Amino acid sequence: MKIRDSAMPEREMWETFFKPKAVLATLGINKQIKDVVEFGCGYGTFTIPASQMIGGTVYALDIEPGMISVAADAAKKQGLNNVRTILRDFVTEGSGLPDESMAYAMLFNILHLEHPEVLIGEAKRVLKKNGKLGVIHWNYDPLTPRGPAMEIRPTQEDCWGWIENAGFHSLQRYDLRPYHYGIVAIK
Ligand SMILES: C[S@@+](CC[C@H](N)C(=O)[O-])C[C@H]1O[C@@H](n2cnc3c(N)ncnc32)[C@H](O)[C@@H]1O
Repeated sequence: MKIRDSAMPEREMWETFFKPKAVLATLGINKQIKDVVEFGCGYGTFTIPASQMIGGTVYALDIEPGMISVAADAAKKQGLNNVRTILRDFVTEGSGLPDESMAYAMLFNILHLEHPEVLIGEAKRVLKKNGKLGVIHWNYDPLTPRGPAMEIRPTQEDCWGWIENAGFHSLQRYDLRPYHYGIVAIK
């Protein structure tokens, strides 16, 4: 089941909203991190730079064949052999990844789904002990140039509470100006 309000604008527009490498470095992505799962990779805006910054493989999941093919093509064009794109509905089917297999889980711009606690639980399941969860989302501000409708857009406090309730610890928050906030937590 496709996440509500998760259709993407044109790639050129989407990619003006972030500085992906700087965001990833701020959220603790580096060479010491081995395998990473990205839930809802979209165009690969974060997939591609993450794959160049880590020591393992990025498992990039998306429900849209069009998104998977853009992300896979970008990886191929850049000669990256550590990106695995996976066409999958992780809301209905889960990620399909083994328990405790990942060092980092990325939940970027998707926590406005109906049952965020279920997705955060799935991220926790696949993370190794001491693995990291990284979340970014649009500021709770109607003036952002995109982002889900305010009625379903989570606040930073909503995300913080869901992550804490899932049993993660050592939460840290980040201001990812101009339009986003970030949270990193440890399993
Ligand atoms: C708003 S975009 C964010 C993309 C990327 N995380 C980023 O920040 O650039 C959300 C993505 O989640 C995907 N998606 C929505 N529902 C999904 C589902 N049930 N299973 C897998 N992917 C899903 C959409 O196709 C879309 O590419």
